[in-house]
Amino acid sequence: MFKEKFRKGIISAKQFNREDLEYILKKAKEMMSIQNSNILQGKILATLFFEPSTRTRLSFESAMYRLGGKVIGFQSREVSSIKKGESLADTIRTVQNYCDCIVIRHSLEGAAKLASRFAKVPIINAGSGSGEHPTQALLDLFTIKEECGTIDGLNIGIMGDLKYGRTVHSLSVLLINFDVNIYFISPKELVMRDSDKDFLLSRQVKVKEIFDYRKVLDILDVLYMTRIQKERFIDPEEYEKMKNIYKFTEKDLELTKDNFILLHPLPRVTEISYNIDKYENKAKYFKQVYYGLQLRKALLAELLAD
Ligand code: NCD
Repeated sequence: MFKEKFRKGIISAKQFNREDLEYILKKAKEMMSIQNSNILQGKILATLFFEPSTRTRLSFESAMYRLGGKVIGFQSREVSSIKKGESLADTIRTVQNYCDCIVIRHSLEGAAKLASRFAKVPIINAGSGSGEHPTQALLDLFTIKEECGTIDGLNIGIMGDLKYGRTVHSLSVLLINFDVNIYFISPKELVMRDSDKDFLLSRQVKVKEIFDYRKVLDILDVLYMTRIQKERFIDPEEYEKMKNIYKFTEKDLELTKDNFILLHPLPRVTEISYNIDKYENKAKYFKQVYYGLQLRKALLAELLAD
């Protein structure tokens, strides 16, 4: 059962097999017709955000309230005892007494994994440095399934900052479970790291690396755009060189298939022109936000309901 398998929480996309994915996507779909419920009455979620967030934190909080639960937590390291020098392990050992589940976002890649070693309650990784962001990837997959009707057989472009973007790492790992063609689109400075690529190749995923997205625009079913991850660059000049490397415009949209969809985990900076937003049949990044809430409702229900 899902609850038993994920009793330590959701740390990595690598925990999911096809059966788990089909199960949770089905549960997320069911949540679309459950606006409010009391299935998590009496449960408390703790949200520990050591890095900025809008959608992830608020959607987890909203999901918890929608299902009748309560939320405690903090939104920055500045207001926690970490600021005084407390370790992450001690913070987790403390907070677990106050709640039934912990959602954590941290700048270190191993933070969620470390937290799960010290917690008796499930830990949900809401972003660990440049490493992973598994629940974002689940909602991305849910969006693709709902909007395209299928995941198998699709041509999926994943574009932008593939080196530092944690959402693309988790998404490509989940896509291993499906029969898809993946196009990794990035400048050579921001290609997938070897460790991430080797994992995909070891699982025989069909991947191509290219720089110019226009070469494949006419065959893509999905293009997943990402922000250049300014906060991860060691050299600010390097970021300046990369920040405007891609900009998806109306001209690009004209080259896409009728059933093409454009996704983005958000926040968007300059990589998708604001003019695109009005093409709601293809620009699905705000719909993705809606699917994200449903997916997180489903996850919390599965992990926490009695
Ligand atoms: C992403 C993140 O935090 O990794 N945001 C999100 O959770 N939707 C993407 C990003 O910040 O670029």
